[in-house]
Amino acid sequence: MNVVVVYAHPYDGSFCKGLLDTVTSHLQSRGATVKVKDLVKMKFDAVMQPEDLKAASTEIYTDVVKREQEDVLWSDAIVTIAPVWFGTLPGFLKGYFDKVFMTKFAYDVGVGGKHKGKRVFSLFTFGSNDPYLDMAGQYECINLTLDNLFGSVGFIDVATKFYPSVPIVSDEKRKQYLSEATQFVDQIIDCQPGEVGQVGNGGLTTRLHMQGYLNGKV
Ligand SMILES: Cc1cc2nc3c(=O)[nH]c(=O)nc-3n(C[C@H](O)[C@H](O)[C@H](O)COP(=O)(O)O)c2cc1C
Repeated sequence: MNVVVVYAHPYDGSFCKGLLDTVTSHLQSRGATVKVKDLVKMKFDAVMQPEDLKAASTEIYTDVVKREQEDVLWSDAIVTIAPVWFGTLPGFLKGYFDKVFMTKFAYDVGVGGKHKGKRVFSLFTFGSNDPYLDMAGQYECINLTLDNLFGSVGFIDVATKFYPSVPIVSDEKRKQYLSEATQFVDQIIDCQPGEVGQVGNGGLTTRLHMQGYLNGKV
């Protein structure tokens, strides 16, 4: 099982780093081959440059983007680990996927998503508490974003795990959070593709694509 872990946090002292270490060593202990993409340490340029966007028609990608695309193709599953900033993914994590999942590599009119059957498992940390996050629509915002991002390009499992109140929870709770993270990624090994399913509107974008929206049939 090949897993790419996309990690988007600047601090080694963060809870996200604890999640990264736990998830990586757990997946390896379960026999997976793991490649970690630490976007900050890689100094990944998340800004969409003219040459990146031009690739939507030319399919000529920069060497940096090509390398990431090769790893997407190599992977059976992607794991993302990030804090939530202003109700959604940090911009540089979204920027990574905007560039790597460029048109034609990721989807095409008349074809739909080109990464059918792939799977993504995303872990997010929050500063706010659970009732607030629900009322403010932050869980929904993330689920809809991931549904549009990964559903559109054909992913069959799009799963999220949320960790509220991270800065104020007890050490005991943090240990519980880490243990839940190992159970969450165990699904990559233990569940068949498609068994976990999709978040958000239950694969809204996938359903719309199948009904013919966006590919010229409707
Ligand atoms: C720019 C910025 C925006 C943030 N916006 C949110 C937010 O919308 N909702 C929330 O619950 N926490 C928000 N936070 C708090 C972080 O999500 C929280 O500190 C982090 O997830 C804690 O985990 P960490 O130790 O891995 O950083 C924000 C933090 C920053 C720096």
